[in-house]
Amino acid sequence: MDLKQHINEEKLPDHVALIMDGNGRWAKQRGKERIFGHENGVEAVRDTVKAAAEIGVSYLTFFAFSTENWCRPHLEVETLMDLLVHAIGNETPELHKNGVRLQAIGDLESLPELCREKLNEAMKLTEKNTKLIVTVALSYSARWEIVNATRKIAEKIANKTLSPDQIDEDLLHAAMETASLPDPDLLIRTSGELRISNFLLWQIAYTELYFTPVYWPDFRREHFYQAIIDYQRRERRFGKLNKQVAVSKNL
Ligand code: IPE
Ligand code: IPE
Ligand code: MG
Repeated sequence: MDLKQHINEEKLPDHVALIMDGNGRWAKQRGKERIFGHENGVEAVRDTVKAAAEIGVSYLTFFAFSTENWCRPHLEVETLMDLLVHAIGNETPELHKNGVRLQAIGDLESLPELCREKLNEAMKLTEKNTKLIVTVALSYSARWEIVNATRKIAEKIANKTLSPDQIDEDLLHAAMETASLPDPDLLIRTSGELRISNFLLWQIAYTELYFTPVYWPDFRREHFYQAIIDYQRRERRFGKLNKQVAVSKNL
């Protein structure tokens, strides 16, 4: 069945965020080391980006490495960083050719130097592309981001360039790592875990959540399209009544 035919182009999510989980379990099922799962996760990213570009989603945000993931065994962290360097090098030309802009959020200063260099090169090369904005969250956690945002605002208050009564939701939005992005419409988590794991806490206030048991290395365009179809069946009410939502849609 071609799932793409069942997608309503009028009701596409503008921004889809993804928690890519289950690489280790995928590898374990095959009697391999965890890194084998991470390596095979790259194809899933590639296919998801292509699928999103094909239907016209504007923003994709991938959770690739959390602040808490630094606590994993040293060898896994090191190999993941090497994999990241290779993946950026291998994937960027194709992304650029397809009009994709690559961005990153998180504590990028904490990444190994080579990784930072590759990332900066790829971001610079693709900075004028507008077809699809792909944001990778690296050394990212939502609480880290909120603490940072609070600090930035507090500094402005301390040096008197801001007064407390000017603090509102727009100001907080602008102080987040995701200042240039709209809030996600849909968040997909793979591997059957039903949690957020410190991802985009501020931004997902009204995001639709979609959980799938598929392990990330097996995730392909049909799973992505299935998530979109599921999203399109839902009614987003934002606290209003069902009939009010229907009226505002007709305006
Ligand atoms: C997700 O897969 C990748 C990262 C968090 C870096 P995991 O490595 O968490 O795989 P599982 O959850 O242990 O199967
Ligand atoms: C979340 O996955 C982080 C990323 C996908 C990068 P984890 O595997 O680290 O999350 P927990 O530990 O199961 O909550
Ligand atoms: Mg995991």
